[in-house]
Amino acid sequence: MEKNLYDRVVFFYDGLASLVLGKGYLESKRAFLDHISKGDNVLYIGGGTGTNLPEILTQVGEDGKVFFVEASQKMVNEAAKDIPDKLTRRVVFLKEDDFKKIPKHQFQIVITQYLLDLLPESDLKILFDEVSKRCNRKTKWIFTDFLDHPNRKVLQYIMIGFFRLVTKNPRKDLPNYSKYFKKYGWEIKNKISFKNDWIQAWLCGKTN
Ligand SMILES: C[S@@+](CC[C@H](N)C(=O)[O-])C[C@H]1O[C@@H](n2cnc3c(N)ncnc32)[C@H](O)[C@@H]1O
Repeated sequence: MEKNLYDRVVFFYDGLASLVLGKGYLESKRAFLDHISKGDNVLYIGGGTGTNLPEILTQVGEDGKVFFVEASQKMVNEAAKDIPDKLTRRVVFLKEDDFKKIPKHQFQIVITQYLLDLLPESDLKILFDEVSKRCNRKTKWIFTDFLDHPNRKVLQYIMIGFFRLVTKNPRKDLPNYSKYFKKYGWEIKNKISFKNDWIQAWLCGKTN
């Protein structure tokens, strides 16, 4: 079986992130989840260990479905492990790192949290292209990630360096997320800041 480099971090990822980033980080992963409605189809890409997955599954209700697309099999296993039996019918786990292979359904909600900061420009383009094909004018995208912040340059540099080393993540800086959202016809409808604006959660919708 092909091994994913994120398999290496699965056993300490959540603990380390909570230790370094604290309460604001945990809160950021719950931002805007209340916008998920009963019956929604949710596309959750790069969900890691899925700490907020039970909450999302509760939100979609019996008629909703969550497609949890994750590059690392170990992350998928971890995410699947603690799902209560009564919620398992509501989730489809896909071990997949090729955005082009995401099932071609229409989704009401897209979730990416701490994923876009890792992606090289070429992958960002593919991700936005592929998400666009699976959305309609009413789709909402819950995006949460680090943004460039003048007071966090050192910690940001250390974190990017750590992921470059451990996961061979090629990025040396953070992407210009706004550029991509704008180019693909998304606008920020609402925004919540955490850690003094270093982390932001955006609720994006299609531009009218
Ligand atoms: C930094 S972790 C964030 C995990 C989780 N979203 C969180 O907030 O804790 C990034 C995750 O994205 C996954 N990932 C990276 N590239 C991916 C791709 N092309 N497709 C799906 N998942 C990917 C990694 O395996 C990893 O679990």
